[in-house]
Amino acid sequence: MKTLPRLGTRLGDYSLRTPLVASCGTVGSVADFAGVADLQVYGAAVAKSVSPTPWSGRKPPRLAATGDGMLNGIGIQNPGVRAWRDEIGSQLSAIGTDVWGSAVGHTAEEFGEVASVLATTSVTAIEANLSCPNLEGGGMFALDAGAASRVIAAIRQATDLPLGAKLSPNSEQIVPIASAVAEAGADWVVLGNTVWGAGFDIETRRPLLSGVVGGYSGRPIKPIALRCVWEVSTSMPDLPIVGTGGVATGDDVVEFLLAGASAVGVGSAHFASPRIGERIMRQLAKYFRRHRIDDVSELIGAVRPW
Ligand SMILES: Cc1cc2nc3c(=O)[nH]c(=O)nc-3n(C[C@H](O)[C@H](O)[C@H](O)COP(=O)(O)O)c2cc1C
Repeated sequence: MKTLPRLGTRLGDYSLRTPLVASCGTVGSVADFAGVADLQVYGAAVAKSVSPTPWSGRKPPRLAATGDGMLNGIGIQNPGVRAWRDEIGSQLSAIGTDVWGSAVGHTAEEFGEVASVLATTSVTAIEANLSCPNLEGGGMFALDAGAASRVIAAIRQATDLPLGAKLSPNSEQIVPIASAVAEAGADWVVLGNTVWGAGFDIETRRPLLSGVVGGYSGRPIKPIALRCVWEVSTSMPDLPIVGTGGVATGDDVVEFLLAGASAVGVGSAHFASPRIGERIMRQLAKYFRRHRIDDVSELIGAVRPW
């Protein structure tokens, strides 16, 4: 009898049914996405980042297609964690797929506050969004090892839930930052978020985004994210990684696994095709059959050096 490949994977002690993670900000609150796509194909889906108080976000335009990717400058518009808990929190257990809550804030204490409220809902893990430009005085937590580890320590104090630290490909030195957040208590790192970018309309001469500079995502950033995954996985082989950036096919997932990721995020691809996760999993299963792979773990970090 033909045995089916084992698609489950692990992030440390945390088990995922499949290696696919629906990335934060690209599947709404997850609850609203459940009617659009089959969420069973994901090991986990990450709800939009939430802050302690409501954030109104930036004014339009906040999204733009450019090149083969997209720019966003949404400014983490969200209703605040308490309203989110009241509106969405009670729907999560009925979704049938693990939902991770994403915490964001201006200070380490704010991240801790958000995490303590998220922990009262049925989220199964917390992702710390260290890679949005909201550090006190500007900047980004994920570019500063000390600031990033203070955030992780504050969340760790607030809850025992599994915790991922979402880092930034804008960081010149990703390994020391990954090391600092692991030391502070992160169970895994997510590599990574969007790459800073900008674009301009040559007819109107206006910036594509109201905030001018925003986050560039989609196909073109895949090599940048793969570089981050490879650098961290080879320097810190015991730290689990969710590789994220530019994934749109089963082959992309394999590439991230080979580079050393244990799970792989799908983000911008949802905007062109909300059910892309189903196609990616079919393509992944084909690759497994073609290469006689029985278990996801056979591919993780299995790149062959020259
Ligand atoms: C419109 C949009 C909104 C996003 N919002 C968030 C967010 O709220 N929190 C977060 O951690 N990442 C957010 N991201 C980043 C994605 O989760 C992902 O890390 C990034 O887009 C790279 O992956 P991709 O190339 O597959 O999109 C957002 C991305 C997009 C395109």
